[in-house]
Amino acid sequence: MGQIANLIPRLIDNPKLILNRLYYTATGTSVGDLRDRIEDYRETFNTLLEMSRRAGDAVRVLPLDSFLDAHRYTNEAEELAALFNAYGSDKATKHNYHLVYAELLGARKNDACAILEIGLGTNNTQIRSNMGAHGKPGASVRAFRDWGKRFMLCGADIDAKILFSEERIRTYHVDQTDPATLAELALKLAPLKFDLIIDDGLHMPWANLNTLNFALPLLAPDGAFVIEDIVDEYIPVWNVIAKFIPADYAFELIKCKSESVCIVRKRMA
Ligand SMILES: C[S@@+](CC[C@H](N)C(=O)[O-])C[C@H]1O[C@@H](n2cnc3c(N)ncnc32)[C@H](O)[C@@H]1O
Repeated sequence: MGQIANLIPRLIDNPKLILNRLYYTATGTSVGDLRDRIEDYRETFNTLLEMSRRAGDAVRVLPLDSFLDAHRYTNEAEELAALFNAYGSDKATKHNYHLVYAELLGARKNDACAILEIGLGTNNTQIRSNMGAHGKPGASVRAFRDWGKRFMLCGADIDAKILFSEERIRTYHVDQTDPATLAELALKLAPLKFDLIIDDGLHMPWANLNTLNFALPLLAPDGAFVIEDIVDEYIPVWNVIAKFIPADYAFELIKCKSESVCIVRKRMA
C-alpha cells in the first residue's frame, strides 16, 4: 500500500511514465525493450510487404487512360504541360502527371483553389530526390500558380535554402521523415483546407505514410492527395495501406508514363 502511495505522485508528474506502464500492463512488453528491438522504420515496411503478399484482393493499378476516361481536359492539360516545361519541372515530360492534375482540377481551373506541394525541387545534389545541379527550385508550384489564375500555392521542402515567397506562393520548411515537423506545418497552414496536396518529396514509403497522415485532415471536400513516383517495388505496401484508409476517402493507384501515383480523394459530404 505504502509503495503504491509513493508511486502515484511520480506517475502524475510524468504522463509518459503512465503511458509506458499502461503499455506494459496491456502487452507484457516494456517500451524500452521495444525501442531496442526496432532499429529502423524499414523493418516495419518489410513486415508490411510480407503481409501484403499474403493479403488477397490487392488494389488494381489502373492504366492512366482509364483514369482519364473521356479526356475532357486535353486543352487544360496541354497548357499545364507547357508551364511545367517552361519552369523546369519534369512532371509532364518524364511522367505525364499534367494529365492527372488536369483531370483532378481542370473543371475548377477558374476557382480560387488551394494547393500544397511537398518537394520544391532542390538543386543541392547532397539532398535526396534532388533535381540535379541545374534544377530549378519552385518550378512546379510556379506552373500551378500560372495555370489557375486564382490558385493559392503553398510549398514545403527539407532544404531551407530554397524557400521563397512571391505572388500567390508561400513556402515552408518540413522534413517528411519527422512527423513533428509535419504537425508544425499543419499549425502554420491552419485553417486553410486544400483542394490538392501533392507529395513529390522523398519518395520513400515511410515518408509518404507520414505525409498521408498529415494530409488527409487538411483536404477540402472533393480534395485529392496525390503521391507521385511510386515505383513498382512499393506497390504491395500501398495495397496494405489502402486497407487502413477511412471509408470517407476513395483510394486509387494509377500507372503513369514511368511510375505510378496514389490518389486519395475526400468524398463529398
Ligand atoms: C523531385 S524534387 C521536387 C520537384 C518539384 N516538385 C518539381 O516538380 O519541380 C524532390 C524534393 O523533395 C525534397 N525532399 C527530399 N527529402 C525530403 C524530406 N525528408 N522532407 C521534405 N522534402 C524532402 C528535396 O529537397 C527536393 O526538393
